[in-house]
Amino acid sequence: MTSSALPIQDYALLSDEECDVRIVAAKAALGSRCVILGHHYQRDEVFKHADFWGDSLKLSRDAAEADAEYIVFCGVHFMAEVADILSRPDQIAILPDMAAGCSMADMANLIKVQKCWAELAQVIDVESSITPVTYINSAADLKAFCGEHEGTVCTSSNAQKILEWSFSKREKVLFFPDQHLGRNTGYRMGIPLEEMVTWDFEQPLGGLTTKQIKDAKIILWKGFCSVHQVFKPEHIDNFLVRYPETKVIAHPEASFEVCEKADYIGSTETILKIVRNAEPNTRWLVATELNLVNRLHEECKAQGKNVHFMSPTLCMCSTMFRTDPQHLLWILENLVQGIVVNRILVPETIAKQAKHALDNMLSQFV
Ligand code: 13P
Ligand code: SF4
Repeated sequence: MTSSALPIQDYALLSDEECDVRIVAAKAALGSRCVILGHHYQRDEVFKHADFWGDSLKLSRDAAEADAEYIVFCGVHFMAEVADILSRPDQIAILPDMAAGCSMADMANLIKVQKCWAELAQVIDVESSITPVTYINSAADLKAFCGEHEGTVCTSSNAQKILEWSFSKREKVLFFPDQHLGRNTGYRMGIPLEEMVTWDFEQPLGGLTTKQIKDAKIILWKGFCSVHQVFKPEHIDNFLVRYPETKVIAHPEASFEVCEKADYIGSTETILKIVRNAEPNTRWLVATELNLVNRLHEECKAQGKNVHFMSPTLCMCSTMFRTDPQHLLWILENLVQGIVVNRILVPETIAKQAKHALDNMLSQFV
């Protein structure tokens, strides 16, 4: 055993092929003490080393059920935080590259959400009339905020059930950070667009009038995903001119206008399921991240299915992309030496309230 961590610099110039061989060896040495979770947006070179794959909901359940001492999360920071919150105290959650964040999650922070809550309190009785709901793509202290205020967390695959639960508790929802998931879900539940107002966190009172706030069912935080905002309705129109038989499927982080034109809307796991189960020789236009779409195309082409990325400009999630085989190997070889690098540890007070919000989601509404 060495006493100091093997430095990342020793790994940066290794080829992917060399990393491959050594990752397999390190995994074999660690055995059941280590589990690797991989989000569907991970690049192939990393994705193939995962023990479990999934969308945010599935991976959070996998993390909660994992028995391994080390949970290595090939995803982004909020996902590793969820793994830490939901796992046992003796388990250790690890993020291979600490710079793997989520730009949408960063669009809301505790100070701004607390300011929003205080401003809303000038107009209505927030505690009795608003359920705060955070998309799982958010920092742990925002999940804790929801826990403290008897709110909850949702993912892209359970947002409707979570909103239904939230409305059974209180008449309004404050939904952050993704306006599109909130709007797309609310609209499909029959809530008119004018009853879903957007809270601009740069403006006093979110840029809204007191009447707009009083009349609203959902107050949507003005956040968005930079990857999903590249998809435009005209991409669908143009594609359908060439291939009118195409089925369109979009992640609910895409805009309202794109989702309106889609045949199906769903989480990453749902997108995979629908396309995999579709008839052979079908054509699909998909509005979600590039690595998933490319992998799905490769997987389905033997059945004559064509799976296309919706935007003519190729765009991957650059933060998901940060996890490379070099960082994964660095993590694993340190673990083989008994050294933990890049641990994600949510402070206990935050973790307790955040777990309450996550348990509200996991125990009843999945
Ligand atoms: P899913 O839960 O659908 O995997 O979405 C996570 C995400 O970050 C999509 O951008
Ligand atoms: Fe965040 Fe968008 Fe990347 Fe998903 S695709 S992790 S929402 S930046």
